[in-house]
Amino acid sequence: RRHLLDLESLSAEEITILLDVASRLKEATEGCRRKLSLLSGKTCANLFFENSTRTRNSFSLAAKRLGADTVEFGSSGSSTAKGETFADTAKTIEAMGVDWVVTRHGTPGTPNLLARELGCCVLNAGDGPHEHPTQGLLDLLTIRQHRGSLDGLTVALVGDIAHSRTARSNIWGLKRMGAHVIICGPPTLVSPRWQELGFEVAHHLDEILPRCDVLNLLRIQFERQHARPFPSVREYAALYAMNAVRMRQAKENILIMAPGPINRGVEITPEVADGPHSVILEQVTNGIAVRMSALYLLSAADDRYRSGNQASA
Ligand code: CP
Repeated sequence: RRHLLDLESLSAEEITILLDVASRLKEATEGCRRKLSLLSGKTCANLFFENSTRTRNSFSLAAKRLGADTVEFGSSGSSTAKGETFADTAKTIEAMGVDWVVTRHGTPGTPNLLARELGCCVLNAGDGPHEHPTQGLLDLLTIRQHRGSLDGLTVALVGDIAHSRTARSNIWGLKRMGAHVIICGPPTLVSPRWQELGFEVAHHLDEILPRCDVLNLLRIQFERQHARPFPSVREYAALYAMNAVRMRQAKENILIMAPGPINRGVEITPEVADGPHSVILEQVTNGIAVRMSALYLLSAADDRYRSGNQASA
């Protein structure tokens, strides 16, 4: 595999290798802080057509921690404003000699398009509401570090499932690794398709909370809701916000996660976000670990692919 486009198509074995290598690289870089030279001479291009704080900076740091160079591309201030297509922009950046293109775009399927058009490795950093595979991996790694294994855990994804690429990558990754997944949110933001696919769907957080080992609290993505959003922020917070009162119904060792950015007072209150059960900032550090792992493993696969092609030429 030379591209990381989604978690839906990955096997449990592939996910385990990505997580194992991430753990080893986290240790070797002393918590993702020290620099190694495993990928020196290689170049990673970040092509971001949507805003990002965590994903963009951690891909950039992951490449640098392994000794690679980086190129940063944002759509504002670039020649896309002059009418250049997404594919032509990506090919132009690739022609500068890059080994990986990391892409975030509002349209589902754009990384798959690049994987067909480009010769280098492509990594999906979020394609509209479809998938965000490295976010899914960092969430899995964080749970595994705390619980040893994902098998048999009950993990609830709570909130705006309809618009969440993080939810989709978590759902497929958790299922593959043997976790019981609960998809919880307002009926307007949870498709009935999930139940048809065999997942547990819930609309009341209070009913499922006592059974959960992990809660992953998603932001309502107002920017992707074109009609008047329902429920309102006030209604959403009353029904779904994880707060100090709800924490009393939860298991003693529950893990509280959020992909970020968090909206304090909407899906999570400050005392929970900053409390002893929260692993939100560990998730951020693990983002560098899984991105180092993905860059490293794809680079090795690409080297094998290229040497195989040369041998058969
Ligand atoms: N979780 C996540 O994707 O955050 P950013 O949008 O800041 O990258």
